[in-house]
This record gives sequence, C-alpha cells and structure tokens, in this order.
Amino acid sequence: MRIVSGIQPTGNLHLGNYLGAIRNWVRMQDEWSAQGGECLYFLADLHAISMPHVPAELAANTREMVAALVSCGIDPDRSILFNQAQVPQHAELQWLLNGTARMGWLNRMTQWKDKAGKNREGASVALYTYPVLQAADVLLYQATHVPVGEDQKQHLELARDIAQKFNNDFASEEKPVFTLPDPIIPPEAARIMSLRDGTAKMSKSDPSDMSRINLTDDADAIMAKVKKAKTDPEPLPSEKAGLEGRPEAANLVGIYAAMAGTSAEAVLADFGGKGFGAFKPALGELLVERLAPMAARYRELRADGEALDAILAKGALKARALAVPTLNATYAALGL
Ligand code: ADP
Ligand code: NA
Repeated sequence: MRIVSGIQPTGNLHLGNYLGAIRNWVRMQDEWSAQGGECLYFLADLHAISMPHVPAELAANTREMVAALVSCGIDPDRSILFNQAQVPQHAELQWLLNGTARMGWLNRMTQWKDKAGKNREGASVALYTYPVLQAADVLLYQATHVPVGEDQKQHLELARDIAQKFNNDFASEEKPVFTLPDPIIPPEAARIMSLRDGTAKMSKSDPSDMSRINLTDDADAIMAKVKKAKTDPEPLPSEKAGLEGRPEAANLVGIYAAMAGTSAEAVLADFGGKGFGAFKPALGELLVERLAPMAARYRELRADGEALDAILAKGALKARALAVPTLNATYAALGL
C-alpha cells in the first residue's frame, strides 16, 4: 500500500492552503501510516516549469512549501517528502513513457485544452506532456493509490492506460513492470473565501492582506483580521439553510467548523441567535489556538534554509532508492 501525491510549490501560504490542501495530506499520512502504508509526498517543481515562471521564486517557493508542510504536521520520518528535481528518475521515466503515450490520448486531456487556451502554438511542450510526467511520478514508485480531485481524474486514467499498454507491449503477464494505481477520493476539502468578500476565494494574489489569514500571522494579526472581516448585520441563524445568501457569514462559520473539526450545523447549534460581536472573538481565539503553534514553527523553519535543504535531501535519497529498481526494469524491458 503506497500513496503518491504531489503539490505545486507555492509561497505565502494561507488558511485556504492549509484547510484546502495541506491538512488532507497530514490526515492521509496519519491514517495510512497507522495501517502500515507508506506516503510519498513530492513538490512538483518539475511541473512548475510548464508555465512561465521566475527561477528565484520557484526555488524560494519550494522551500516555503516544505516549511509549511512540516510545520503543519507532515513528518519527514514517517512520510517521504521530497522535490521532483532532486530525483532525476522522474524525468527519465517520463521520456521512456513518451514512447508508450499516444498523441491522441494527450490531445483529449481537458486540462491541456483549458490551460493552453487559444494559444496552443505558443504553449510549452511541457504543458502538453505534463500528464506523462504525472504518470511517471506515480508509476515510478509502484503507487497502489493516488488521491485525485475531480480535475485530476482524467490524468490518473491516462497513467493507468500508459501502464497497461507498457505492460502489454513490453512485459509478460506474470511480471508486469508497472502497478496500475487506484484513485482515492480525498475527503471533501473546505473552500475558504476571502475575509473581505465572501464570493472570492482566499488567495495569496489578493492585494489586500486583510483578506486572508497567512500561516505567518501572529495572534494579534489573526484577531485583528477576524475582527475586521466583512459580515452582515444579522445574527447567526440556528439552521444551515439560514446561511443561504449570506456568503460572509457562511464562510466564517465554515472556517470555524473546519478548524474545530466539526460541522456547520454543530457550530450553529452553539452560536445560532448570537451576533458577530460574540462569534468573531470565539473564531479568532480558535484560530489562534490552532494556528499559532504551526505559525511559530513555520517562521522558524522558513528562516533555516539549511534545515529545509536537509529535509529535502533526505527525502530525495529515500525516493531515489525506491525509484531505481522500477527505472532499471523499464530500461531493460525496452531493450535499453
Ligand atoms: P492561491 O489561490 O493562494 O494562489 P494556490 O493556487 O497556490 O493558492 O493553491 C495551492 C493549494 O491550496 C491548492 O491545492 C489549492 O486547491 C489550495 N487552496 C488555495 N486557496 C484555497 C482556498 N481559498 N480554499 C481552499 N483551498 C485552497
Ligand atoms: Na492560484
């Protein structure tokens, strides 16, 4: 049982990144390692070059992402945490799989069509072959399970098609080279909205810092941002249906529920009928209680580039050891 999952390195991480992405990784790690399974988590820095990017930012974002993951609970001793670029077997296997992947299969990928838009001639070749690298990312480790959201289902299907065709064409039935990974649907991730506008996603690209809780915010900043968060004048309803048409209220209740590990219904059972004058301080305190320890560790780690590099180097060493046998078997099967 082996899970492989990747995330694009980004910097300036915020509450939306934590509740929408990082926390699921931590949960998977805890659940899988308790059952003797293994989690490989990688930063998809090779994928990042498929779009225009600034090299110094990519390097900084990769480190920030590691700092965030570790401070939020990814344990580099229990999970294998690494970045693709330090495991050259990813790029090597992609090339070998390019011989098996069909143009027609890639042409059908909806994400390629969406991202390239009308400017297909100007899109990078990497953007087009990105799903083959994704296939290499998981097949390289004989992943048995891959967590996939709705937008990634098609890419995992492609990875299975590539694995199956390769096994058919180049391996015997008794000794397939690749394991066909099964999808697992991650628990529904919270979608966190801006504190200034309940209809916009909380995002690092919002120019207003008051719109988001950053993973670097201290207790005072968190309390101030929650206090200033946009709301309406009505008290909270006691039923979830009463949040309809009240995006800001729904967002704050959703954040409370996600942080407390409970449901919106349960939050409203406690706070229904109360105004934001009562709810906001409670929400702020909950956020401070849960985030402050992570934020402190994040700030500390971010400042220690050597420690971050050491974590990545150690993870890459473990990942390479797992990758080499599969890569060797692939070369051999191809007569290389
Ligand atoms: P941003 O929108 O701040 O640029 P990214 O696009 O870099 O964030 O997202 C990184 C990860 O965090 C993705 O898995 C994404 O789904 C998740 N994420 C980002 N913003 C939110 C949000 N507001 N709510 C839930 N998840 C989010
Ligand atoms: Na974004």
